[in-house]
Amino acid sequence: MTDLSLPNLPGGLPDKRQVAASFSRAAASYDSVAELQRAVGAHLLTQLPADLQPPCWVDLGSGTGHFSRALQACYPQGLGVAVDIAEGMLLHARELGGARYHVVGDAERLPLRSASAGLIFSSLAVQWCADFAAVLGEARRVLQPGGVFAFASLCVGTLYELRDSWQEVDGLVHVNRFRQLDDYQRLCAASGLQVLGLHTQPHVLHYPDVRSLTHELKALGAHNLNPGRPTGLTGRARMQGLLQAYERFRQPAGLPATYQVVYGVLHKPLSEGD
Ligand SMILES: C[S@@+](CC[C@H](N)C(=O)[O-])C[C@H]1O[C@@H](n2cnc3c(N)ncnc32)[C@H](O)[C@@H]1O
Repeated sequence: MTDLSLPNLPGGLPDKRQVAASFSRAAASYDSVAELQRAVGAHLLTQLPADLQPPCWVDLGSGTGHFSRALQACYPQGLGVAVDIAEGMLLHARELGGARYHVVGDAERLPLRSASAGLIFSSLAVQWCADFAAVLGEARRVLQPGGVFAFASLCVGTLYELRDSWQEVDGLVHVNRFRQLDDYQRLCAASGLQVLGLHTQPHVLHYPDVRSLTHELKALGAHNLNPGRPTGLTGRARMQGLLQAYERFRQPAGLPATYQVVYGVLHKPLSEGD
């Protein structure tokens, strides 16, 4: 997850092959720890226009296919396509039903025909795309006129407790970077799609200790993949420093981890002049 509002990232962007490999490895463990992902995707479903009846829908960054199955239930007449960059996720999802087709593909270069989908639904995937303008361009190309692109993503402020705690210890990049909310707003406004809604909502999860949080990020495949991240094992003294630094955030419910979720619903005008 890369925040391009930071111009001089050490070493550039996370390698998509690493993102794909990390999520493929996580396919078997993902569902058992995806509490936040479930809540976010469920909220995104409630944001879809009530009268939408897409003949073809796309679950973009479909992961294990939980929301492909939900979309299938919402639109039983529609033909579903699950697209993900991680083949391991698609192999896992295919066994569980939902979408008719499972296609390996990148949200920045969709392997789908122009004007072929009535809905593109994407929950917690596009924060992995460095070029969000390209994602929007592809959504616009692939949507039929009148079609809807609904996405949930993450912005700056996500996992700030972990980031700030590491900052105190060694100042290195231990947490994936996220785009600013302003960037989402600006890019959506310039996309040629009509913005029906764009809002953020914080979700806060609680953990008994730091290790529970970092293990969960790993089980999700969502641990830090940024260039500039520290390599090798985390030394005992640094880990101790991290645990201490994180303690200052402790609440009665445990150690908080905040996710700043951006929800967007965009509409492709019926004609270019609209
Ligand atoms: C956190 S999971 C979310 C999965 C599912 N949407 C859910 O809510 O349970 C993120 C998914 O996005 C996929 N992904 C990451 N970058 C992608 C890209 N550039 N194009 C398509 N999928 C991508 C990952 O492989 C992973 O399966």
